[in-house]
Amino acid sequence: MIIAVDGPTASGKGTISKALAAHFDLPHLDTGLLYRAVGRQCVLAGGNPDDPADALAATTFAEELLNDPELRSEITGGLASRVSIHPSVRQALFERQRSFANQPGGAVLDGRDIGTVIVPEAQIKLFVTASVEARAERRHREMLVQGRDVSLSDIANDLRARDARDTSRKDAPLIVADDAIVLDTSNLDRDAAIASAIQIAQDRQ
Ligand code: C5P
Repeated sequence: MIIAVDGPTASGKGTISKALAAHFDLPHLDTGLLYRAVGRQCVLAGGNPDDPADALAATTFAEELLNDPELRSEITGGLASRVSIHPSVRQALFERQRSFANQPGGAVLDGRDIGTVIVPEAQIKLFVTASVEARAERRHREMLVQGRDVSLSDIANDLRARDARDTSRKDAPLIVADDAIVLDTSNLDRDAAIASAIQIAQDRQ
């Protein structure tokens, strides 16, 4: 069973994917982390994330970089969104994601183009989304817990900019696959969102 989970930043897709993986006892790959590692490696090497050659060179990042807490930062998320525009970067990360999906027994992958480009043949495709307001409020709460008080409107503006970049790029834009089920989590709490996702996956199994 291959479960493809796509959706914008802070939609809840990461939480839902981890819960699906635990429920169905499948390995999980957060593909955003790969693009984050490329973005981070690119700046660590003194490169420019908007330069295709610099970004491509960064796809050979060391595996330990995937454990760097800095990868989770908003700044690195922005860098990831910039390097992910380059088709050569997406191509370089393609095989790694496909072989993860095709391991015996299946897998859960989450990202932006899993159901459309990486594993279009996945039996279960979820597109997890939520309003910008709901996503900004979640991000804001997470940041307050971490002791960072960034204004709600700054967070919302950042989300809008990232959405615009992810949906408007030419190569593998963030779009809903024809056969994906859309799960809007705007009015769902964590447990309700997870329960809906498990139900959808069970119905499609
Ligand atoms: O999901 P996450 O916020 O970690 O992703 C960071 C960025 O990486 C996204 O904004 C997107 O530009 C890029 N990305 C992508 N394709 C994926 C996963 C992430 O282009 N499959």
